[in-house]
Amino acid sequence: MKKGFFITFEGADGCGKTTQSKLVQEYLENSGYEVVWTREPGAKGLGQKIRELLLHYDGDVAPMCEAFLFLADRAQHIEHLIKPAVDAGKIVICDRHTDSTIAYQGYGRGEDIKQLKYLNELATGSVKPDLTFVFDVSTDIAQKRVGEEKDRMESAGIEFHKKVRQGYLEIAKLEPERVKVIDANNNIEKVFEDTKKTLDCFLNLKLHK
Ligand code: TYD
Repeated sequence: MKKGFFITFEGADGCGKTTQSKLVQEYLENSGYEVVWTREPGAKGLGQKIRELLLHYDGDVAPMCEAFLFLADRAQHIEHLIKPAVDAGKIVICDRHTDSTIAYQGYGRGEDIKQLKYLNELATGSVKPDLTFVFDVSTDIAQKRVGEEKDRMESAGIEFHKKVRQGYLEIAKLEPERVKVIDANNNIEKVFEDTKKTLDCFLNLKLHK
């Protein structure tokens, strides 16, 4: 059976990746692909309970506890949703995945990146994104887009979010084949146009291999 594709959408809070991921879903479905849209943390079931803890628990959270909760959610998500859908030939679009842990818990919180990469591998088994978009936006614009009502992660402060942004740019530098940076300072239409160009390139390459 033909294997599908796994595409992830990444970037700092307020970068607009969720909007873009939904536009890409619509574009791919209109082009005849079977698409599953999902997200981390908390796609469904147990994951939703972990999401609630991660975003709304109001006590102190040790950084490695935070990392393990994201990883626990990921292990469940891969096994129960992502892997079966990709194996069935679908395109899985995931709003945040492994690179969020490297950018937020690694570059942002300062946890050991090598260890986090290893833990990501444990959580995901052999499943890796075929393509990853990083939506890069200035921290000022991003913070304005997030607005006043912030969850636990969004409340982590401007310096934290600057580190997260730089982290994503480092990740893209290290894996340029997989990770494509899109300038997300522009309006929705222009960002989508740029995203679509990169996506079409990727699909052409895959389909003519
Ligand atoms: P969410 O409301 O889904 O935000 P967004 O719409 O920006 O994706 O909240 C997810 C938050 O969790 C976001 O601030 C990023 C953070 N996060 C991590 O810190 N590490 C991770 O591994 C993941 C998946 C998310």
